[in-house]
Amino acid sequence: MASDYVAQLFSVEGQVVVITGGGGVLCGAIARGLARAGAKVVLLNRTRASAERVAETIREFGGEVMVVEADVLDRPALERTAEEILARYGRVDALINGAGGNRPEATTGPENPLTDMPEEAIRDVFDLNFMGTFLPCQVYARIMAQQGKGAIINIASVNAFKPLTKIPAYSAAKGAVVNFTQWLAAHLSFEYSPNIRVNAIAPGFYLTRQNRYLLVDEKTGEFTERAKNVLVHTPMGRFGEPDELIGTVIWLLSPAASYVHGVTILVDGGFVAYGGV
Ligand SMILES: NC(=O)c1ccc[n+]([C@@H]2O[C@H](COP(=O)([O-])OP(=O)(O)OC[C@H]3O[C@@H](n4cnc5c(N)ncnc54)[C@H](O)[C@@H]3O)[C@@H](O)[C@H]2O)c1
Repeated sequence: MASDYVAQLFSVEGQVVVITGGGGVLCGAIARGLARAGAKVVLLNRTRASAERVAETIREFGGEVMVVEADVLDRPALERTAEEILARYGRVDALINGAGGNRPEATTGPENPLTDMPEEAIRDVFDLNFMGTFLPCQVYARIMAQQGKGAIINIASVNAFKPLTKIPAYSAAKGAVVNFTQWLAAHLSFEYSPNIRVNAIAPGFYLTRQNRYLLVDEKTGEFTERAKNVLVHTPMGRFGEPDELIGTVIWLLSPAASYVHGVTILVDGGFVAYGGV
């Protein structure tokens, strides 16, 4: 009885959820979690092979999954794949903007001081994280407006609240994602439909391929000073596991979050809460 009530309140059963960067570590875990909860997940990724690997792990337990190949910076490719998705499912209930990341060339260091950083790398990281969120929102907002409902989850980072050393473009772009999440929430409500919700999650530190080069010494396999510093500044004293994002995403897409709009939820082991002293 009680469990039926909770199951309905947090249900994402049957929802068609498009996940950009769905071939990645965090969004792969989110996709598996949503599929286990009964959603139909669409993995949109620049490289089909990594999305196919994630899809295989979903098919293994009988989950419903579709893979589409598109670059989130390529608007025509986003439009084309959206048509493919609509042709198969007839609607899109949710969009998760997970494609993102940083590059070593956009990271300061002894060989790459701020004053000499290549402009192209800074633009590239800013574009991937901000424009790579903006463009899919444009494409799917149109679909959701026609449906009169939908939900968007952007993926920010703790960087948006506490800029970390070394990664200026990534921090600034994630800050822009939080701001845009608020802007888009109000804009879609006023201009299109009050039944399209927009929120974001801000993961803390998860050991994945985008940050491994900063956190693990390639030669020794030991944590770098930066990784040790992260752990000291994370009250829970450990990195997050990708599966620990699933509950927050399910909640944000479920009826339980029907009045949650324009917020960014931290999933960071307390990193942003701690002042460091
Ligand atoms: N790993 C962390 O600790 C952490 C922390 C905070 C936020 N994040 C954010 O979470 C999201 C996922 O990160 P992750 O660690 O799983 O990274 P990941 O590198 O494992 O996954 C990113 C995925 O996006 C795809 N991708 C990259 N560029 C693309 C493009 N232009 N078009 C389409 N797909 C593209 C990649 O192929 C990859 O499958 C990113 O937005 C990242 O910035 C990660």
